[in-house]
Parts: sequence; C-alpha cells; structure tokens
Amino acid sequence: MSTENIQHSSLPTQRLLGKVALITGGATGIGESIARLFHKHGAKVCIVDVQDDLGDKLLKTLVANSDAESACFIHGDVTLEDDISNAVDFTVKRFGTLDILINNAGLSGAPCPDIRNNSLSEFETVFNVNVKGAFLGMKHAARVMIPAKKGSIVSLCSVGGVVGGVGPHAYVGSKHAVLGLTRSVAAELGQHGIRVNCVSPYAVATNLALAHLPEDERTEGVVAGFRSFAAANANLKGVELTVDDVANAVLFLASDESRYVSGDNLMVDGGFTCTNHSFKVFR
Ligand SMILES: NC(=O)c1ccc[n+]([C@@H]2O[C@H](COP(=O)([O-])OP(=O)(O)OC[C@H]3O[C@@H](n4cnc5c(N)ncnc54)[C@H](O)[C@@H]3O)[C@@H](O)[C@H]2O)c1
Repeated sequence: MSTENIQHSSLPTQRLLGKVALITGGATGIGESIARLFHKHGAKVCIVDVQDDLGDKLLKTLVANSDAESACFIHGDVTLEDDISNAVDFTVKRFGTLDILINNAGLSGAPCPDIRNNSLSEFETVFNVNVKGAFLGMKHAARVMIPAKKGSIVSLCSVGGVVGGVGPHAYVGSKHAVLGLTRSVAAELGQHGIRVNCVSPYAVATNLALAHLPEDERTEGVVAGFRSFAAANANLKGVELTVDDVANAVLFLASDESRYVSGDNLMVDGGFTCTNHSFKVFR
C-alpha cells in the first residue's frame, strides 16, 4: 500500500474529551500532574488518595474555573480492597462509566544499604501499596471495563522496574512486579478490548524520590541535592525530568492515540536503562 494514503490526524486540543478517569495517589507529585493534565484535556477526573487535605485542595483548584461536576476526590487506601472497590463504584455513579484507571499511588521505603537490616514489615508495606494496590485497581477497573469492552489501564512503574541498584530492594522488587502484572493482565484483558500499560520514569524530585537521596548527597539541601544527583547520573544531559513530562507520557497511553499499544512499558528515562557509561574509553 502506498504510504501516501495514510492519514495522520493532528492532535486535538482536548485529547480525553468525554473520558472518565480514576487516578490513585492523585493528591500530590506525579499523580497531581496527571490529574491536572487529564482535566485540562477534557476528562472527568476522580482522585483517590489517603491525603484528604491535599486531595480537597487540588479538587478546589481543578473546579475553580470549570464545571464543578468535572472532578471529585474520594478518600481511599489502595491496599484495602473495599476502598478501591468503593472508589470505582463512586466514579461510575458520579460520571456514568470508567474509561481510564491510573495506578499511580506508590511508596519507596527508606534506603537500607544492608539487606541484613531490612525490616520485613517495611518490605511488606512497600509491596502492599505498589503491587497489591495496582492489582486491586486492575481487578476492580476490569469489573466495569469488561462489560464496556474498552478501557485503558496505566500503572506507574519505574527505572527500578527494569534494572537493579536504583532504590531499596522492596521498591525495585515491587516495580519489577508491576511490570509483570501489567503484561499478565494485558494478556487477559486484551481479549476484551482493554489496554494495559505502564510508564517508567527516571528520577523526579517528589516526596517519594527525595527519600531515596543518600545522606552524603544532601549537603546542598534535599531538593537541590536530589536534582544535582539526578542530573549527574542521567544519560540525557541538559534536560531535567519533571512531573509534567511523566504526565504527558501517561496521557498518550490513556488516550486513543495509543489505541493499539498494550502490554508496553513506556520508558521516560532519557535512555538511562538502555545505556551504560562504565566503559568511558569508547566515547
Ligand atoms: N518521583 C520519582 O522519581 C519516580 C520515579 C519512578 C516512578 N515513580 C512512581 O510514580 C508514582 C508517583 O510517585 P511520586 O513520585 O509522585 O510520589 P509522591 O510521594 O509525591 O506521591 C504519591 C502519592 O501516593 C499517595 N499514596 C501513598 N500511599 C497510598 C495508599 N496506600 N493509598 C492511596 N494513596 C497513597 C500519597 O499520598 C501521594 O499523594 C509512584 O508509583 C512512584 O513509584 C516515581
């Protein structure tokens, strides 16, 4: 077929118009940026978080200059099945359907350079939020999406989902599990027309990431220290990764622009995980 016949549409200004999205951990950080971007692109947005004050504050700013019925906040802990089930039902009751689920809520746990001192309870807490939370989100979104025969589920994974040595064991192990879960659920839900993907960012200076910064890198203050640490270790120089860069990648996977993409892990890491700078002699 001649490529001359292929039509490339320009991007609409509201890329999620008519869609309904549920975003876990949406009160701050990357989740907040996703909520703001999705809302700007015409989606009706339901934010779930354990931080009620931040969630309410964000909600007020979202609806300040738009339809009060275009966004909502519900308290919910992603590790509790009843909370996730309620959040899905609340979204459907409020907005009539669920087109998009973003499994964003996450925890890193404290750095622990010696496995002999790793606390089992902290390991379990991180797995509960990052893996069980994502699983419960997928399970209850599927309840609504399977009968509708459509939907897009995007989970926040990490560079720690594909390489080791970039965070605490529980974090890296849990993010590898999020990638595995994404592929496994994509295999099942593809049969129903539902896409399941994840997005893997490099380092962004959010509350979660700041907790990773080694003590000896905090000399300039935590945020400045983190940014220079991230820049020094990045592959791509001259650009600093922001929460909005991550939200833009999530927007692509949530929207119909990626309608044939499923089971994928979109790396937003500037080439960090596919390059190795150890052999400087070759440059
Ligand atoms: N910041 C980074 O450098 C980075 C890099 C790669 C991946 N990620 C991933 O991005 C996601 C968002 O992280 P962030 O950096 O914005 O962190 P953040 O700490 O700024 O935000 C996380 C949000 O999740 C919420 N949350 C935590 N536990 C919860 C629970 N049990 N139930 C409901 N909500 C809960 C928090 O209240 C918070 O609003 C996480 O999954 C994280 O692993 C972040």
